[in-house]
This record gives sequence, C-alpha cells and structure tokens, in this order.
Amino acid sequence: MSKLLHMWNFFIPYKLKHFIDLITQPGLTFSFSSESGFRGLVTGKPVPVIYARGGEYGKAESSAMDFQKPYLELLLGFIGFQDIRSILIEPTLVDQETKNQILSAAKKQAIAIAGR
Ligand SMILES: Cc1cc2nc3c(=O)[nH]c(=O)nc-3n(C[C@H](O)[C@H](O)[C@H](O)COP(=O)(O)O)c2cc1C
Repeated sequence: MSKLLHMWNFFIPYKLKHFIDLITQPGLTFSFSSESGFRGLVTGKPVPVIYARGGEYGKAESSAMDFQKPYLELLLGFIGFQDIRSILIEPTLVDQETKNQILSAAKKQAIAIAGR
C-alpha cells in the first residue's frame, strides 16, 4: 500500500483522519492487555508514504509546524508497522521548473524504495 498524503493546515486531510479513526480500534488494528500493554496488529509489511506539502518542513526551523509526518508515523507505528519508508515532496508551491526537479528526485527515491 502506498499513498500520496497531502498536508492540510499542518496536519493530514480530515478524510484520512476519519479513516484512521474508523480503523484504529482495539481488536482490529491494535490490542491491549494489562500484561502486554498496547500491541499493533498490522505487522509484517513495509509501508511507503509519500508526503506532499506546499511549504518545506524538512528544515529545522519549520519542522515544529509539521504535524503531518510525525503524526502519521506515530499512528502507523502504533498499529504495528515497523518499516516506514517516507518520501517528501516539498515545497510544491514553487515554479514549475523547481517542481519538476523536486518530483524527479522523489521518483528516484520511490524507485529505490520499491527496489528494496
Ligand atoms: C485545505 C488545504 C490546506 C493546506 N494546508 C497546507 C499547509 O498547512 N502547509 C502546506 O505546506 N501546504 C498546505 N496545503 C498545500 C498542499 O499541501 C500542497 O498543495 C500539496 O502539494 C498537496 O498536493 P497537490 O500538489 O496535489 O495539491 C494545503 C492545501 C489545501 C487544499
């Protein structure tokens, strides 16, 4: 499974949050017991995630505003994914030539990830 994930107001789109709220349920994607605590049930597969953002949040000075990637990684880890392969497409609010360069770098990353 691979998804292009748009940043909306520093977070994930509400439709994806809705989906997460539907599937993140005990017995469905995680378990809880007083002996073992929380345990993710979605195991054994890598998950590639492609993040698209208008701004540039990979930089140290703006990374504190990024609630998209850290949240999704927390959530995916919580439900059991251990091998999260991330690709950043950012900033997309740039001229077409710069955008093409950013997309071409992301495609190379995607090919490398798919090859693993
Ligand atoms: C409702 C909405 C909210 C957005 N909020 C942000 C934001 O907080 N930060 C940001 O960098 N980009 C924001 N964007 C821009 C998108 O993340 C950006 O356009 C991204 O590239 C989405 O993919 P697209 O290129 O297919 O539109 C927002 C876009 C929309 C439609």
